[in-house]
Amino acid sequence: MVVRIGMIGAGFIARLHATALRSLGPDAAQIVGVAARTEGPREQFASEFGIQDTYADYRDLLARADVDAVDLCVPNHLHHPMTVAAAQAGKHVYCEKPLTGYFGRGEAPDQVSKTPREVMLRETLADSDEMLAACAAAGVQLCYGEDWVYAPVLEKARRLVQVSNSPIMELRGEESHNGSHADYAKRWATSGGGALLRLGVHPIGAALQLKRWEGQLRHGRPIRAAAVTAEVATLTDIGGVPRDEGSWLVTDWVDVENWSTTIIHFEDGSRGVFIASDNILGGIVNYLELTLAYGRIKCNMTPNNMCEAYAADGTVWGDEYITEKIQTSAGWTYPSPDEDWVRGFPHELADFVAATRDNRPPLSDGELGRDCVEVIYAAYLAAERGARVTLPFNAS
Ligand SMILES: NC(=O)c1ccc[n+]([C@@H]2O[C@H](COP(=O)([O-])OP(=O)(O)OC[C@H]3O[C@@H](n4cnc5c(N)ncnc54)[C@H](O)[C@@H]3O)[C@@H](O)[C@H]2O)c1
Repeated sequence: MVVRIGMIGAGFIARLHATALRSLGPDAAQIVGVAARTEGPREQFASEFGIQDTYADYRDLLARADVDAVDLCVPNHLHHPMTVAAAQAGKHVYCEKPLTGYFGRGEAPDQVSKTPREVMLRETLADSDEMLAACAAAGVQLCYGEDWVYAPVLEKARRLVQVSNSPIMELRGEESHNGSHADYAKRWATSGGGALLRLGVHPIGAALQLKRWEGQLRHGRPIRAAAVTAEVATLTDIGGVPRDEGSWLVTDWVDVENWSTTIIHFEDGSRGVFIASDNILGGIVNYLELTLAYGRIKCNMTPNNMCEAYAADGTVWGDEYITEKIQTSAGWTYPSPDEDWVRGFPHELADFVAATRDNRPPLSDGELGRDCVEVIYAAYLAAERGARVTLPFNAS
């Protein structure tokens, strides 16, 4: 069976997904239509990937009887309404990270970030539950787009953990870079949070999946997060950070944090420590480290030293791609032969397509997406209170 996909969104991540879907071959998956808000990028995307039908309104794509699944590559605040609408139309859903978030409930956009974190957590969980329930009621899969879960290095780590027969005692992870240039990322009302949500969701998602998997393996039930502690900050506000046009760091944040550290206390007593920062020069940092009783595993996605290159100045490598978010290609760099592969995108889309074809849950499912936003908004609450928040969250 060929899985027929409707792509919603035609921007950065839609391109990565379409490239990964194309690599599966036309007998496995085909993008039969694309919906996106702006015409130019939509038509450009369609011609680039040989997609015949384009739509300004995503509901026209949902109305097509021949679409099996929709791939939501749209801004965060659209994940919840589009997932519910797609499920009600009987489509399997691929939803990018984060599953959803708090973007306001009618308050003015500049007031959204001032909402008490407990309200944010409660509302985000309500929306997540609605997404899960809509998919369950329609009998469709909710596939959660956490590519780290599928990264080959994480797959290798699972195999090493399995044969070691050791508990995962500690996890340390980070995603950091020099800041997002996208305008929506700078405002709570469109992003749902800052570095903690936008970047931290990756290492936290991979760690939650690993502990769930470990629990199933060792005890026949998942090991979940039991408590969260956190700090958030806007480090570009500390004074002395240049804000001129030429700054290497993004500094024009409106009302979101650009640094966070989260500690997760898991049910089995193990811990996870996660950093997310928009203030790191030198290229994107993506890693997860596992401490075992009999060993250690370092999963270095970026940078990794599969390829090391030296250039006397920044012109030597011309326009050849080096790696994401480096400021210069001069000196020693770590050129990435295939960044999409390293970060798990082809593997993610292959699993989502198989999950659609066989109507079975993917490795990264809606429950994991819900767990991630529960931990992240509990972390915002913990940072606000200056105190640990226990899970599962009980608003009373
Ligand atoms: N997994 C990852 O590593 C990763 C990386 C980047 C982004 N993302 C996620 O992907 C999502 C999209 O981010 P992006 O960077 O691709 O953004 P983008 O701005 O590049 O693209 C967004 C697309 O959504 C379309 N869109 C907006 N409103 C729409 C509407 N109402 N109907 C139809 N289309 C609409 C826009 O036209 C655009 O094509 C976000 O949720 C983000 O968190 C994930």
